[in-house]
Amino acid sequence: MQSVNQYIAENKERFLTELFQMLKMPSVSADPTYKKEVAATADYVLESLKRAGCAKVKLYPTKGHPIIYGEHIIDSSLPTVLVYGHYDVQPADPLELWESPPFEPVIKKTAIHPDGAIFARGSCDDKGQMFMHVKAFEAMISTNQLPCNVKFMIEGEEEIGSANLGAFCVEHKEMLTCDVVLISDTSVIANDVPSITVGLRGLSYVEVEITGPNKDLHSGVYGGAVGNPVNILCDMIASLKDGDKHITIPGFYDDVVVVSEDERAAMNKAPFVREDYMKALGVNDTQGEKGYTILEQTSIRPTLEVNVMWGGYIGEGAKTVLPSKAFAKISMRLVPNQKSDVITKLFKAYFESIAPPSVKVKVRPHHGGEAAVTPSDTPEYKAAALAMKDTYGKDPIPVRGGGSIPIVALFEKVLKVKTVLMGFGLDSDDIHSPNEHYGLFNFYKGIETIPYFYKHYAGLKSK
Ligand code: BES
Ligand code: MN
Ligand code: MN
Repeated sequence: MQSVNQYIAENKERFLTELFQMLKMPSVSADPTYKKEVAATADYVLESLKRAGCAKVKLYPTKGHPIIYGEHIIDSSLPTVLVYGHYDVQPADPLELWESPPFEPVIKKTAIHPDGAIFARGSCDDKGQMFMHVKAFEAMISTNQLPCNVKFMIEGEEEIGSANLGAFCVEHKEMLTCDVVLISDTSVIANDVPSITVGLRGLSYVEVEITGPNKDLHSGVYGGAVGNPVNILCDMIASLKDGDKHITIPGFYDDVVVVSEDERAAMNKAPFVREDYMKALGVNDTQGEKGYTILEQTSIRPTLEVNVMWGGYIGEGAKTVLPSKAFAKISMRLVPNQKSDVITKLFKAYFESIAPPSVKVKVRPHHGGEAAVTPSDTPEYKAAALAMKDTYGKDPIPVRGGGSIPIVALFEKVLKVKTVLMGFGLDSDDIHSPNEHYGLFNFYKGIETIPYFYKHYAGLKSK
């Protein structure tokens, strides 16, 4: 690996410059006004793969944003790694909370990143992490050290539910044939505590609309008599959890896989200090489901969270109005074996049933996806663990993640392959939040570790 490491060391400044160029492109998939910028970013990914030395690259348009596919087959008898990542990013809002503009990357030092971190939307999720794979590939190819065939599938709709990727995988099943999927879109516990994600939660995301009176009303003239949709929505949402923070939707927990006491004990051995956790978030207490630790609440238990709620006048100053409508967007994180569409149906039926007769309720499903577990007794997990041991000098800890990458469950179903979630971000990197950042340490550690994965994976598979 000497020459690969040397290549990385000699080119590390350029790698960063190239990443900066991509981070300057506002590829916000959720907002149609950025459609052109998303397309330009797709082109940039395609060009990057080409320049890195990938033999075959192609842009596949979809009904939404394009998918970039790359393929580099060196020997059909060698194992094939499919790298998945996404070039789209979350909206940068609220803009006023960014200390530097979200699409003007800068390096700043922080307490957790004393060597500096790249501040920009998408730096960690997932442009910075996806780009590590392009650069690791370049380093392996340029030094004649690529031990596996490689395929890349980089999409532009992950942050909005990967609506077109499922059909793409089905349609191009043959093309996507591989032995393993490799993804860097998750976190490690800390820069000196490497970990590998062995589970992701599923998701059911819904929007609700409550309609009361047929127009906004004077809140003095009518208030007190007419049911207020915002108040009613608050009551309804509040009733979705009991005093122990259990979700009250009938049947919600029916399919939840009960994690064994042994596994729970093992997962609670991961380093975690509740006080530090609360301090970093500026809260004096937490509010999780009774009977579970924070690590469990954010990984093996399902949740229900309001992501946004609105209704009435939200402009400046006060307007005395009893709103006609109230809205909320609600996400439910799911665990193995809960089914996203079943949960959506249960939610809808229950939510409609608890509405008082003074309002009408609409429930609109957005996107969803299933949870995934990626076992730790497979060659791919071992290869990732050995790779991290090589570069961190420590065995990584297997952890279940709280976030969702719904396509992982689909890879297993359609392509019949397992995924390795070898991410390099930190939970404190503020993904989806203002001031998202990605440590330079993490960026380079990823580029350094990925070639070791290929090496170990090729070795383990040929045995
Ligand atoms: N990279 C994240 C998922 C993630 C982050 C998993 C950290 C584990 C740890 C991904 O880009 C993401 O944000 N996914 C969405 C799901 C999607 C359907 C919108 C999520 O989890 O909210
Ligand atoms: Mn991501
Ligand atoms: Mn994300």
